[in-house]
Parts: sequence; C-alpha cells; structure tokens
Amino acid sequence: MKRNILITGGAGFIGSHVVRLFVNKYPDYHIVNLDKLTYAGNLANLKEIEDRPNYTFVRADIVDFEVMRRIMDEHEIDGIIHLAAESHVDRSIKDPFTFARTNVMGTLSLLQAAKEYWETLPEKYEGKRFYHISTDEVYGALELTNPKGIESPFTTAASSEHHHAYGTVFFLETTKYNPHSPYSASKASSDHFVRAYHDTYGMPTIVTNCSNNYGPYQFPEKLIPLFINNIRHRKPLPVYGKGENVRDWLYVEDHARAIDLIFHKGIIAETYNIGGFNEWKNIDIIKVIIKTVDRLLGNPEGYSDELITYVTDRLGHDMRYAIDSRKLQRELGWEPSLQFEEGIERTVRWYLDHQDWMDNITSGDYERYYEDMYKNR
Ligand code: NAD
Ligand code: DAU
Repeated sequence: MKRNILITGGAGFIGSHVVRLFVNKYPDYHIVNLDKLTYAGNLANLKEIEDRPNYTFVRADIVDFEVMRRIMDEHEIDGIIHLAAESHVDRSIKDPFTFARTNVMGTLSLLQAAKEYWETLPEKYEGKRFYHISTDEVYGALELTNPKGIESPFTTAASSEHHHAYGTVFFLETTKYNPHSPYSASKASSDHFVRAYHDTYGMPTIVTNCSNNYGPYQFPEKLIPLFINNIRHRKPLPVYGKGENVRDWLYVEDHARAIDLIFHKGIIAETYNIGGFNEWKNIDIIKVIIKTVDRLLGNPEGYSDELITYVTDRLGHDMRYAIDSRKLQRELGWEPSLQFEEGIERTVRWYLDHQDWMDNITSGDYERYYEDMYKNR
C-alpha cells in the first residue's frame, strides 16, 4: 500500500534508525524526514539511504506551525512518527525553555497541523496515525530497594547474562506520571497533549514510552558514546554521584523494530512501554565499557580503570528506571532480538570503527557545515 509518512527528528540517534528501517523495508512508502538539524541532528547518519527515490529530507522546525501545516498538505501525509525533541537531561537543567519550546510547543504545533489537514479530507481520520515517541522518564524514579540486585523476575532476549533487577517495582503503562527533570516534564506535557487530541478531537494517536537506548549514531553527550570516546582519548570518565543509579538499556534497532510494529499494528489510543528487562547500575555498565574498549584497542586489562572520576551528582538525578514491557510482548508479540553482551560489543566496535563520524561531531565541523549549507534557504 502506498503511504506518505512524516518522521520527525529523523537525523537524530533513534530517528535515523527508524528512517533507515522504513526506507529499506517499505519501498512503496514515501518517507519524509523532517528535522531542524540542531546540534543533535546529523545527516551523515543517513548517508546510505539519502538518494533513495522513496526518501525526502526537509529541514524545518516543528514549532513553526505554518510550515508544519504546509508540509502535511504538500506531501499528503497520512502517518506521523514523532521523534523530534530536545533529548538530553543535563541540557534541560541548564536551559529548560528550549525543552518547553520544542517538546511541548513543537508537539502541539504538529498535532494541530495534522488535525487541520486531516479534517479537510473526505475520509478525515480514517487510516491516519499520529504516533508519539516518549520516554520512561515521565514516570519518575523508582527506588533502589535491592542495591545488590536480585534475580529479575522477567526476562527477554535483550536481558544481560547478569540479569539483575534492583527493585521489585517496574514502570507499567498505568503508572502515574511523576516527572522530575525539565526534560521529563516537557515530555510528559507533550504526552498529555497527544492524548488530549485523541480524547477531544478523535485523532488516532498512539504513545510509547521506552527505556534508555544504546547503539550506533548516538550523540556523544550521552553516557555510552561519551565514555567510549573518552577512553579512546584517555580523558576522565565523569561518573555522577556514586554511580549507583540504575538504567534499563535497549539496543536502538530493537526500539526501531518495536516502532515499526506499533505504527502498523498498535491499537489507537493505547500506550505501550518498550524495554528489554536489562537493568544496570551506571558503575557496572561503565566497567563493561572500559573492559570492552581496552580489549578491542589491545590495551592490558584494567588499563583505563584509572580514568573513572567521581563528580558532583546531576541535580534531581533519578535513581532507577525499569520498564515492564510485557503488554507489548503479549499483545503485539514484540521481542527484542539482541542480548546486551552482543549489543554492547557491537556498539563499542562501531564507535571505534567510526572515529571520523565522532571527530566531525566533537570538532564542531558538521555544525558549521550545516549552518553554511542552509544559511540562504
Ligand atoms: P536526539 O537528540 O539524538 O535527536 C533529536 C532530533 O530531533 C535531532 O535530529 C534534532 O535535530 C531534532 N530536533 C530537535 N529539535 C527540533 C525541532 N524544534 N524541530 C525539528 N527537529 C528537531 O534524540 P534521540 O535520543 O534520538 O531521541 C528521539 C526521541 O526518542 C525523543 O523524543 C526522545 O525523547 C525519545 N526517547 C529517547 C530515548 C533514548 O534513550 N535516547 C529513550 C526513550 C525515548
Ligand atoms: O530513559 C530514557 C532516557 O534515557 C531518554 O528519554 C533520554 O532522552 C536519554 O538521554 C536517556 O536519559 P539518561 O539521563 O538516562 O541518559 P544519559 O546517557 O544522559 O545518562 C545515563 C546515566 O549515566 C544517568 O544515570 C546519568 C549518568 N551519567 C551520564 C553522563 C552523560 C554519568 O554518570 N556521567 C555522564 O557523563
């Protein structure tokens, strides 16, 4: 079936995996990737598909309602997968306004543009879909009731061999929202707007809340790529607080596969949590990263341990995130495919093999490049 799908934030980390998957898997779909190309957006992430006939890139800001409205019309968009956002918690602590602007106002502008366009069509919302990508951080923080870790009651193919849970409570789709950071507060607000457009106007919306993603093309301000790059350059590894905070890690391609499945088979107005039951304390995951990088670089075991540097904690640092994704497994048959040990090996290798990608970003060249390239458009 021919479809015209708007993917926002497609030049970012997760978005680029989703765009690549859709362009490759659905030659009959026209994929419109809309991205502002902030510091986090990088078209180099999409080199291999940029010339495909079923792919179009549009540089635009989702906050700009008139432009969003025009793009809906121009490309006859019938499905939206909305990933564009400011995504880094530390930046949100320094600059909350940018997060409210993009994540809240941007989502609202996109919702309204879709509503106005779809309501002009004879079939209206029939066959349409507005799929909003959100985060587990909206649920707030779980306590570390088992600091040493217990055998996790749940497992998926993504669970690590160490298979720990650090508490007995998990985030469910019904867990009450309780965001703590400006980032998660802005994401929570956007989730509420998406649901409000369903409840008020009947827009066919879906929301998913996913745990921490890792894998290729992640901007090196986030824990895993930052630490891989710092180890390579023998720079300090800034561990916030005691390194005891727990995150639940999922390989990015498994998230992209979940998005594909939910976009096509998910039930309108439903929420699905996405995660692989793969909890890690920061300090433990950092040790795995150090060990893997040292091995792949041919360094002696323990060579980079001395780079670990405990620093002042992140303000309001959420202690533990742990997603219960059994609804998605049960109702839509999703299973992650990659076990953590293999995923982290693949990820470290990718960053070490793509030093040019990393250098372009960290030197600021690509930002200047895009500024020049788009200055007069
Ligand atoms: P990212 O920061 O790597 O990419 C965000 C993209 O959005 C960039 O390409 C950026 O240029 C674009 N963008 C930012 N502001 C824009 C604007 N005003 N208009 C148009 N485009 C704009 O983010 P990511 O990690 O890939 O996250 C993507 C989405 O998934 C976000 O909504 C995030 O909240 C959500 N999410 C991320 C994770 C994770 O672990 N990274 C987990 C769960 C959910
Ligand atoms: O849970 C999903 C969320 O995961 C997404 O919604 C966010 O967009 C994404 O950025 C991520 O948020 P986190 O804050 O969990 O990710 P980050 O990589 O910034 O940090 C992971 C953990 O590591 C967190 O507990 C903070 C810690 N940390 C992070 C950095 C960058 C450090 O100890 N040192 C660091 O330098």
